[in-house]
Amino acid sequence: MWWERGVVYEIYPRSFQDTNGDGVGDLRGVADRLPYLERLGVDAIWLTPFFASPMRDFGYDISDHCAIDPSFGTMEDFDALVAAAHGHGIKVVLDFVPNHTSDLHPWFQESRSSRESPKRDWYLWRDGDPPNNWIAVFGGRAWEWDEATGQSYYHAYLPEQPDLNWRNPEVREAMLAVLRFWKGRGVDGFRVDAMRQVLKDLSLRDNPPAAGWEGPDDVYRALVPEFTTDLDEVQEVVAAIRAEIGDEHLFMAEVTAPIERLVRYYGAAGEGAHLPFNFHLIGVEWTPAAIAALVERYEAALPDGAWPNWVLGNHDQPRVASRVGPGQARAAAMLLLTLRGTPTIYYGDELGLEDAEVPPERVVDPDGRDPERSPMPWTGAPGRGFTADGVQPWLPFGDAAVSVEAQEADPRSMLALHRRLLALRRSGDDLAAGAYATLAAGPAVLAYRRGTSTVVALNLTAEPATAEVSGEVVLTTELDGREGEVVPGALALRPGEGAVLRTSTAAG
Ligand code: GLC
Ligand code: CA
Repeated sequence: MWWERGVVYEIYPRSFQDTNGDGVGDLRGVADRLPYLERLGVDAIWLTPFFASPMRDFGYDISDHCAIDPSFGTMEDFDALVAAAHGHGIKVVLDFVPNHTSDLHPWFQESRSSRESPKRDWYLWRDGDPPNNWIAVFGGRAWEWDEATGQSYYHAYLPEQPDLNWRNPEVREAMLAVLRFWKGRGVDGFRVDAMRQVLKDLSLRDNPPAAGWEGPDDVYRALVPEFTTDLDEVQEVVAAIRAEIGDEHLFMAEVTAPIERLVRYYGAAGEGAHLPFNFHLIGVEWTPAAIAALVERYEAALPDGAWPNWVLGNHDQPRVASRVGPGQARAAAMLLLTLRGTPTIYYGDELGLEDAEVPPERVVDPDGRDPERSPMPWTGAPGRGFTADGVQPWLPFGDAAVSVEAQEADPRSMLALHRRLLALRRSGDDLAAGAYATLAAGPAVLAYRRGTSTVVALNLTAEPATAEVSGEVVLTTELDGREGEVVPGALALRPGEGAVLRTSTAAG
């Protein structure tokens, strides 16, 4: 399938390109930047929600699944974007948010109107204030009391995001119809939001307290979400969504779970998601031993026929360059793009963009995720090529020195490195599809073989290191001319430097 050799690029449309000077990115802006994406070398774009929304959770609170929010443009803009993307050889993946809607969605408005409403059971209404101890992901109780009808409704996220009842067949049918609608408009796949949340314990058992949480921050972690997430029955909903998406369209699923639970989302016989997001590189300890152990554990856990995938950043997490530090950002990029499986690149990470500083008065996200959502810096000029000069963007820009324009002019830039890595992935079978095997190359170095004749060595420390590998250098993270260097058994790596080598034999 195309996604097995492909690379996915995540676009947060509010922050990619504004074309009408309102400081908010839009669909026309994404279309305008397709040549950039084609040149970068990605195969697909995943667009986070641009559907009609009151924007309490910036689009993850949907009030009409089949309409474009006016801040992003029109349905004509959307159709034009899909056609243009396909013209550039780029697939389009949409976000599908099955777990909840906006409280302003007509379904919820109807549901909350009375206990006798035909849509009452479309959401999770229960007696009690609150009915049990469940906590919302963004903090606070997960139940909102509704005075008018004398019951509470459940919301895994904001009170303005009531959870749908996926046990109700009408809900299921209405939501699967949303997938059909967008397939009919020519999209190539879906990223399914909050997959493990879609069913909750029918008897509303209290979640048990979590060991180790001392508060007061991140109150969601005070309880183990045993009865609100990742119920065994969720697999049946995953299979129903997959049956609707089919075999030709991509099904990526947002699943935060330990590896052994995560891989269940492929389905025991491949009837689940094509790519349940593997977020484990985001939290792993940044050492060769920890990363090698992670990769091996994941590779070993994958069911037969399951295709792996890797993620280093997204719109919910601090940016990778801020997490690992600028000194490791290049090695991180080489890791993401040389592991076995489909990588997802978060917009701006190809520039090494760090989290932006967001002063308190500019904070807009209910969960503190603004810093990783700063607008794409296309140029160094006022407005940064993102919006017009003099317009205040919806979020502040990050580091003024980082821009596409500046990096286009620098053959050693992060952007240049990404282009080279993506081209290298495409140039042969080893990186695109070859087997993974960890190599012992010294304590500071993460090294592995891919396929028959490709070796990757990454110095994950801030000190010079020697990698006990051999071959001929085909690419290094510093892009300063080491290509062609013949390595007879020891490769000197500068702090944070990584290299891809070609070996002539199957032995690395
Ligand atoms: C997912 C999204 C996140 C959103 C949440 C609720 O985790 O990635 O941005 O806030 O779901 O929809
Ligand atoms: Ca705009």
